[in-house]
Amino acid sequence: MTTNTELIIRRPDDWHLHLRDGSMMSAVLPYSSADFGRAIIMPNILPPVTTMEQATRYHRRIVKATPDQHDFKPLMTFYLTESTRADDIEQAASSGLIKAVKLYPAGATTNSESGVQDIKKVMPVLEKMAEIGLPLLVHGEVADSNIDIFDREAVFIDTVLDPLRRSLPQLRIVMEHVTTKTGVQYIISSDKNLAATITAHHLIINRNDILAGGIRPHYYCLPVAKREKHRLALREAVVSGDSRFFFGSDSAPHIDGTKECGCGCAGIFTAINALECLATVFEQENRLDKLEAFVSLNGPKFYGLLPNTSKIRLYKTCDHAGQPEKIQTRDGYVTVFDPMFLIYWHVENIVNDKIY
Ligand code: NCD
Ligand code: ZN
Repeated sequence: MTTNTELIIRRPDDWHLHLRDGSMMSAVLPYSSADFGRAIIMPNILPPVTTMEQATRYHRRIVKATPDQHDFKPLMTFYLTESTRADDIEQAASSGLIKAVKLYPAGATTNSESGVQDIKKVMPVLEKMAEIGLPLLVHGEVADSNIDIFDREAVFIDTVLDPLRRSLPQLRIVMEHVTTKTGVQYIISSDKNLAATITAHHLIINRNDILAGGIRPHYYCLPVAKREKHRLALREAVVSGDSRFFFGSDSAPHIDGTKECGCGCAGIFTAINALECLATVFEQENRLDKLEAFVSLNGPKFYGLLPNTSKIRLYKTCDHAGQPEKIQTRDGYVTVFDPMFLIYWHVENIVNDKIY
């Protein structure tokens, strides 16, 4: 095997990850903890993480399920409901355990039923967050059935996000998994209090991949992938080096039976190959030099944290790295994201100058 190209970068982080719970968590977590130093853990488990006690217990379960040899720190979040209290948020943030609060518009996506229907009801909490500098992570789509699913991000920006930013400009907000050119432009035109995560899969698939020539449930996630011009705008954003864009995989495993059915659920499992997919994308764009900023530097900068000290080595070989089509969990099989290109990149951890 000849090595064609290699890249040594700070250990990356994943700023948007669904780890689930129980046996699903045990099955998927080691893929994230192998490659990523930290991850922002989404709180949309059942029941959602809304109290310190739940967050503490969930954190403990994650730490317990992490393989001993992996250097991985879960960063916990709260799930915002209309009954969340500003005092509880302040206490959770000052404990150091809670790093952000997630806003799901009620009904927008998987396990979002307890989310927010009327943003006015959570204003006292948002005001407190603005005061203490705790970031709000938004699932940036309206859940209104009258709004076309491909327009829901743009409508969210116009009707929820922009008015919120005008009334509370000090609030630090991450627009999670941005999928449109409109979203990218909105971030670029905003100030440093607004940032966005971008997934690996939205850099690779467009809506044809889900729907043309047959329906492919394993490319269905929310926000749904859009037209090609949007995918290209996302690619431009990630290689631009603009520090307001950083990586959040939104790896969201579901067992195959719940996706391959009459009403399949949303979510793509990428934790296993996200980094190799990203290296391929940045190489395709001839901007491998910008990969470290996107996966390892921009996120910590927004969250006021230092980048990881350890490093990883990404190297390319002439042989493509095979990836499993599915992984097995005790609940059933989970299909792995297929990027539709062969992956020639491999990841190695470097700890104290030793390669693992
Ligand atoms: C996520 C899930 O399955 O929890 N699904 C998805 O399609 N991304 C929820 C979410 O982040 O929207
Ligand atoms: Zn998500």
